[in-house]
Amino acid sequence: MRYARSIAGLAAAALALAACGGGGDDASGSGNGGGDVEVFTWWAEGSEKAGLDALVEVFEEQNPDYTFVNGAVAGGAGSNAKNVLASRLQTNDPPATFQAHAGAELTDYIEANQIQDISDMYEENGWNEAFPPDLMELLTVDDAIYSVPSNIHRANVVWANPDVLDEAGIDSAEPPADMDAWIQQLEELDSAGVTPLSIGMDWTQVHLLETVLLSELGADAYQGLWDGSTDWSSPEVHAAVDDYATLMSFTNTDRQNLDWPDATQQVIDGNAAYNVMGDWAEVAFREQDLEHGTDYTTFPVPGTDGVFDFLADSFTMPYNSPNEEGTTAWLETIASEEGQQAFNLAKGSIPARTDVDASEYPAYQQTAIESYANDTIVSSLAHGSATPVAWLTDVTEVVSQFSANGDAEALKTGLADVAASNLE
Ligand code: GAL
Repeated sequence: MRYARSIAGLAAAALALAACGGGGDDASGSGNGGGDVEVFTWWAEGSEKAGLDALVEVFEEQNPDYTFVNGAVAGGAGSNAKNVLASRLQTNDPPATFQAHAGAELTDYIEANQIQDISDMYEENGWNEAFPPDLMELLTVDDAIYSVPSNIHRANVVWANPDVLDEAGIDSAEPPADMDAWIQQLEELDSAGVTPLSIGMDWTQVHLLETVLLSELGADAYQGLWDGSTDWSSPEVHAAVDDYATLMSFTNTDRQNLDWPDATQQVIDGNAAYNVMGDWAEVAFREQDLEHGTDYTTFPVPGTDGVFDFLADSFTMPYNSPNEEGTTAWLETIASEEGQQAFNLAKGSIPARTDVDASEYPAYQQTAIESYANDTIVSSLAHGSATPVAWLTDVTEVVSQFSANGDAEALKTGLADVAASNLE
């Protein structure tokens, strides 16, 4: 099994790690130059900050000479951070390291010569074997590797409040079989006077849209959207957009003012029945002492069972890092078993390394581990795996217009135009 590893094996690895100071050359990490290490992320608040804090704790333990400096910029999915980062990189003011998604998003930074090839680090530390081949493929561009993955998240997850469903006469133990069955439930919930589906600002809408495209098209045709082999003007894509429009008609009207924690909170508070969000949402439920399976339930977005809509966060070595040794130390913490374990347990994600002990993970994460090991894996649009930033920005623009005007025909044309110009 992909994540199988004996406790004895883990203990031996922990000892080995301790002996080399967390993967470095000496007890204080690979370099001991010390100084500030600014880490740029969008994990600025709430449950996401809790994940970052867990990682920082390991970093500080492994590298007592370095000082972690939190360069986080708030806004889910990097909705603000990516712009701030872009202007810092343009003015040659990079942080020591920054968060970027594995996959097409990395190519933006590579093409602009903003991040360094760190293949040597992979060879020196044996990381080529530590990460799964499909993830290595997303990290590798022209035989070079540019970042170290910290975690793997699943995007196509529905979060449900069973009490709200039961009260509306819907069997919460039985997830809807497909998109049509789900839409029928949303109608019933609407008649019962609750918000059927909670959602937030633009990027959360793109997130929902990608899962509906996946549901309607299936894994292969969905993947084909990103290389031009699936026609954006096809009846299947149009049907998906129509479903998306229907789903959006059952969402809260204050959506544009909410980031994901607010939208997920509506389900937690019983003000909404469902929310579609990546599995960082797991921590929001857990932090409020809710139990998976009883207080909340999860299932793949209807029609996407057997598919893992994938994204991974990773960290980079920028050119002109203000502290290259400090960056190296951070990347080594990210890759270490201890770092992966601490971070992922706290973040709702699963480890990018295949050799860490999975048994400690709570119930929801066990489902993600199982799904990642067995399901078809596809790339997330909203989280940088499927397309470069420019294409995602263009999609976000047309999705945002739809939120304002509800014009599904304009959304269909807009998505096709955006695809055509970005595939040129
Ligand atoms: C994703 C990121 C996740 C999580 C989420 C919400 O893009 O990969 O780790 O932070 O945004 O902010």
